[in-house]
Amino acid sequence: MRRIVIAGNWKMHKTQAESLEFLQSFLPQLENTAEDREVILCAPYTALGVMSKNLHGTRVRIGSQNVHWEESGAFTGEIAPSMLTEIGVTYAVVGHSERRQYFGETDETVNFRARAAQKAELTPILCVGESKEQRDAGQTETVIKEQLKADLVGVDLSQLVIAYEPIWAIGTGDTCEAEEANRVIGMIRSELSSSDVPIQYGGSVKPANIDEIMAQPEIDGALVGGASLDPVGFARIVNYEAT
Ligand code: 13P
Repeated sequence: MRRIVIAGNWKMHKTQAESLEFLQSFLPQLENTAEDREVILCAPYTALGVMSKNLHGTRVRIGSQNVHWEESGAFTGEIAPSMLTEIGVTYAVVGHSERRQYFGETDETVNFRARAAQKAELTPILCVGESKEQRDAGQTETVIKEQLKADLVGVDLSQLVIAYEPIWAIGTGDTCEAEEANRVIGMIRSELSSSDVPIQYGGSVKPANIDEIMAQPEIDGALVGGASLDPVGFARIVNYEAT
């Protein structure tokens, strides 16, 4: 059985105080949320500790936005898996397109990070997706297949979430059509040796389009950027109306 996983990726937004303010409004809105939905908030590192304390005993899980592959060492600016698990983090985004685009992340380092996360019992949320140029050149399938092949070497599919995030749809308001996202996600699933991996869609998900996205048979959830910053809007996304 595939799980439904709705995650907010706050990116470089929210101080500790702002994170707690978010929770005050957000948590009461989950009282009637369907049991089968897993809810994750991927906050900045500085807010993870305080969020974890305040989410203890709730259904919301905490995720980081990256994780390094070594346990310790001279890696200025990086964070080790045990530093995250110690404070209750259970998910880690790896290979987000912003990491790949602005910080030189490669498929090889994404793979190292995913494997190290799993070793520490953090579930990686692996992001894949094509750029506008690649889509226009008809390379969507090839690009994603290559990413999956390289990123998933030695990765345990039973402890993994994949997010399909077409780069051209991120932060642009230009959502990928739900049917097209469904098609690509079906293609991703056909590349995997297990059909149980939850595969999310990400890219300009908002309260106004979540119901249509989640009505697609292949889509198991969403990875939400901008719209996850607002507790009312993100609660509406988590409480999407199932058809
Ligand atoms: P937006 O929802 O802001 O388009 O961001 C998507 C994303 O990158 C989530 O990881």
